Amino acid sequence: MTKQTLLVTGGAGFIGSNFVHYWMKKNPQDTIINLDALTYAGNRESLADLEGQQNHVFVEGNIIDRELVNKIMADVDTVVHFAAESHVDRSILNPDIFLETNVMGTQVLLDAALKNKVKRFHHISTDEVFGSLELGSSEKFNEHTPYDPRSPYSAAKAGSDHLVRAYGETYGLPFTLTNCSNNYGEYHFPEKLFPLAITNLIDGLKVPVYGDGLNVRDWLYVQDHCSAIDRVLTDGKDGETYLIGGLTKDISNLEVVKMILSLMNKSEAEIEFIADRKGHDRRYSVDWTKINRELGWEPSVDLEEGLRRTIAWYENNQAWWRPLKEQAKDFFKANYKKEN
Ligand SMILES: NC(=O)c1ccc[n+]([C@@H]2O[C@H](COP(=O)([O-])OP(=O)(O)OC[C@H]3O[C@@H](n4cnc5c(N)ncnc54)[C@H](O)[C@@H]3O)[C@@H](O)[C@H]2O)c1
Repeated sequence: MTKQTLLVTGGAGFIGSNFVHYWMKKNPQDTIINLDALTYAGNRESLADLEGQQNHVFVEGNIIDRELVNKIMADVDTVVHFAAESHVDRSILNPDIFLETNVMGTQVLLDAALKNKVKRFHHISTDEVFGSLELGSSEKFNEHTPYDPRSPYSAAKAGSDHLVRAYGETYGLPFTLTNCSNNYGEYHFPEKLFPLAITNLIDGLKVPVYGDGLNVRDWLYVQDHCSAIDRVLTDGKDGETYLIGGLTKDISNLEVVKMILSLMNKSEAEIEFIADRKGHDRRYSVDWTKINRELGWEPSVDLEEGLRRTIAWYENNQAWWRPLKEQAKDFFKANYKKEN
């Protein structure tokens, strides 16, 4: 097996930390340099079991720090770029930092990747760059769908996607790009829908659901996102984009919450409808035929099994999420307002 060095950005966040665990288990011969600014969303505790492992080097730092980024890129073969401001609700409250990190930060990384001749720059993006689909339609996003971002978060991610492709075209930077649907699973910050619902229910609290709850997302278990990135890093073609999704039929947020309630033996009386998010995209749905056909990837679990594993994880890892939930109290107050 060839040994390589990966620079993972945002590896203390939700998907990044899952990916670091996934990769180190599967490729123990590799070294991971994990660059993370430890914003509210980054947490060293998500990497606690890797403490002391020589082939995992944690660097606390910002991706917009050119000097630092250049220095740590020196012997890197592959960049896997997760670091971003990622929460739509926060982007509505404060868009500035989204442009700084997601757009400017990505450009700093791209420059350093070029300068240090990395073999592959893999950019992690979202299906939210494609905008919103009609509820009830059978339309899906695919690799040819035009960009139509509708929140400051997705607009900034769209900007970063364009930059990555532009560096490929203009300077010949070897890259791949994946646009993935909404993830759920272990180490997910407890202000997001699923972990909020699960942790509230553990504490005997109600579960907030936006608006009428009919919004549709294409949920994917985070471990399956990691295996898809693995397939693209291993066999994906230079310059290609792959869409990653989890479901084959629509399921509304309300139905998912009901599924969580039933798996946790709770009644639907625990649901509390709250004022809808501004510009709330109605429906996302991803056609993941290309990655399935060309790289043989498919999700390993369905939504119910993924939720079962996620609920068990939150029940067994309360020391991980309790301090984070405490920290996010001000955000909850500003963001989740009861429907009048
Ligand atoms: N969560 C999802 O459902 C989802 C779906 C598709 C794509 N994505 C994309 O996947 C990536 C990771 O998402 P996530 O949900 O794990 O996000 P997250 O918010 O949980 O983690 C982001 C991480 O990046 C770090 N970070 C933020 N700004 C930084 C900076 N300037 N320099 C260095 N580190 C910084 C944070 O400390 C955190 O550890 C993002 O690019 C996101 O757009 C997420």
